[in-house]
Amino acid sequence: MSKVQGNVTVIDHPMIQHKLTIMRNKETSIAGFRRLLREIAHLMCYEVTRDLELELIDIETPMAPMKSPAIKGKKLVFASILRAGNGLLDGMLDLVPAARVAHIGMYRDHETLEPVEYYFKAPSSLEDRLIIVVDPMLATANSATAAMEKLKERGANNIRFLCLLAAPEGIRHFTEAHPDVPVYTAAIDDHLNEKGYIVPGLGDAGDRMYGTR
Ligand code: URA
Repeated sequence: MSKVQGNVTVIDHPMIQHKLTIMRNKETSIAGFRRLLREIAHLMCYEVTRDLELELIDIETPMAPMKSPAIKGKKLVFASILRAGNGLLDGMLDLVPAARVAHIGMYRDHETLEPVEYYFKAPSSLEDRLIIVVDPMLATANSATAAMEKLKERGANNIRFLCLLAAPEGIRHFTEAHPDVPVYTAAIDDHLNEKGYIVPGLGDAGDRMYGTR
């Protein structure tokens, strides 16, 4: 189940919405938050990959040879924007264990809210692979847009962006900068506050996942 607005798909499946409500609750434990993020990643991965092309391959069952559908083309790449992206990445890899993985280290300068890149490691050939970039929070979208630029510089030409929550300001910024990149989110919240946090949101995803402050 999903609602599409332009290039943005809101995956409003009841299981995702229910789990997201528990994640938003400030009383939810670190262990609970982490587990729910992984579970939501399973459900969202299923939706984001629903249109992948299949091809028939020859196999033999214990009973007979047959042609059976398998995902066509090069292996997928999941790109995690560190560090909160790793919470979604773990769940995505549960479903697609053979995916290649890119790590993009960006932190937000708390004064300027601008992204600062400190790490980038990606598979060598990104061309003609589907790359799903994951980060739970699309807030200002500064990190996400910078990550897209970096991936495109490295040859990426088929990218999707998956987050849990988005702010309208972040969606505007991202879709203007990268109109070719479809965005998938579980919810679009009300606004960003002056510190760049999504409201009502769920707080700092990395802190809630890792127990930091
Ligand atoms: N990053 C977070 O973890 N939370 C927000 O609300 C915004 C950015």
